[in-house]
Amino acid sequence: MKNQHVRVGVIGGGTWGNYHLLAAKQLEAEGKVDLVAIADQYEPTAEKQSQAYGIKKYTDFQKMIRDEDLDAVTVATPDHLHREVALYAMDHGKHVLIEKPLDLTTAGCRTMVAAAQSGGLLLTVDFHKRYDVYNAEVMRQVRAGLVGRPYHAYAYMEDKITVPLNLLRNWAAHSSPFWFIGVHKLDLVRWVTGLNPVRVLAHGRKGKLQAQDIDTFDSVSAWIEFENGFTCTIDVNWIIPGQFEALVNQGLRIVGSDGIVELDGQDRGLRYCSTEQGTVTPNLGALVNQESLFGYRAVSGYYVDPIKDFYHNVYFLKNGGSLVQLDGRYPSGMDGQWATQTAEAVEKSIVAGRPVELAEI
Ligand SMILES: NC(=O)c1ccc[n+]([C@@H]2O[C@H](COP(=O)([O-])OP(=O)(O)OC[C@H]3O[C@@H](n4cnc5c(N)ncnc54)[C@H](O)[C@@H]3O)[C@@H](O)[C@H]2O)c1
Repeated sequence: MKNQHVRVGVIGGGTWGNYHLLAAKQLEAEGKVDLVAIADQYEPTAEKQSQAYGIKKYTDFQKMIRDEDLDAVTVATPDHLHREVALYAMDHGKHVLIEKPLDLTTAGCRTMVAAAQSGGLLLTVDFHKRYDVYNAEVMRQVRAGLVGRPYHAYAYMEDKITVPLNLLRNWAAHSSPFWFIGVHKLDLVRWVTGLNPVRVLAHGRKGKLQAQDIDTFDSVSAWIEFENGFTCTIDVNWIIPGQFEALVNQGLRIVGSDGIVELDGQDRGLRYCSTEQGTVTPNLGALVNQESLFGYRAVSGYYVDPIKDFYHNVYFLKNGGSLVQLDGRYPSGMDGQWATQTAEAVEKSIVAGRPVELAEI
C-alpha cells in the first residue's frame, strides 16, 4: 500500500518537546503523519499537551510504546534521560529522533548506535544548526573549496542566564554549556569541514550558577584539534544577562589557505526597540509560525525543520525507501557519538588540566 501515514509519539512535552509536537501537527495536516500521543512523566504537562494537540496522553513512555502501534518516537526528555528512552523504543522496533546530546557517555552512544544498526532503524540526532540556511551555505562553500584548506575556526554560542536559571532549573546541574550548546557548534564545524576532532584542551569557569545552587560550569572554552592540523576554538557560556537583545548569541568564522568566511548567527539584520521590550533582534531563521493558506499552522526554520525532516525520512522508509538511500543525509547516531566523545574529552581536559586525546575516551 502506498502513501501510508507515519504514526508518531512524542516523549517529553516541555519547551523543546513542544516544537516536536508543532512539527508533527503540521505534517499531519499535510497528510504524512498521524500524531498519536504525548508521554510526559509530569502529569500536568502531559495533560496540557494532550489538550493543546488533541492527542492521547501517557505519563509512562514505556506504556505508550507498548500500547500504541507507533512507527517512530521523538525524544525531548532532559539530556541524562535520553539513552534509557531511546533504547527502550528501539528495542520495540521504533525509529527514533533524539535531542542533542545523544547521550552523556560515549559508551552509551555506542550502545545506541549498535541498537539502531542491529534493528535496521533510523536514529537521528537533532543537530539543528545544519538546518540553518546560513550555516548550510557556509558548508556548501567551504566544501566547494572557497577558503582553500581550512586552517582554523572560531565558533561561539551563549545563552541568557534565564536558560539554566529558569527554563532548565530542574536539570541544569546534570548539564553544562558544552553539553547543552557546545555540541551544536562541534557538530556544525565537523559538518562544514568534513573533518573529525582528534584532541582537546579545555578550560571551564564556575561561580555564578553555583551561587544560585546550580552546580555546573558558567562557561567553557575548548581548543580542538581536528584531522589535517585544522583547529577550532569553541567558546560557550549560559550566563549572558537577561537584558541581552536575544535569547541566544552565536557566530562562526573559518580561515583557510585561500579565504575566510564570517557569520553572525544572531543578528540577522532585523531590529526593534520599544519601551516595553527594549531592543530585540529576532532570528527568523530559527522559527516562523504562521497560518497556512490551508488553515493549519505552518512552522518552518531550524527549530522545527530537522524534526519535519525526520518524519519525512520515516515516511520514506515506511513507503518503500531504504536506510542506505538516506545515508549521509541526516545527523546520525554516529554524528551524535562524535559530539559526545568530544564533550567527554572536554570535561576530562578541564579536570586534568591537560590535552586529552579523543582516543582516550
Ligand atoms: N535542539 C535544540 O537546540 C534544543 C534546545 C533546547 C533543548 N533541547 C534539548 O531538548 C531536551 C529537552 O529540553 P527542554 O528544554 O524541553 O527541557 P524541559 O525541562 O522543558 O522538558 C523536559 C520534559 O521531559 C519530561 N520528562 C522528564 N523525564 C521524563 C520521562 N522519563 N518520560 C517522559 N517525560 C519525561 C519533563 O517532565 C519535561 O516536561 C534536552 O535534551 C535539551 O538538551 C534542544
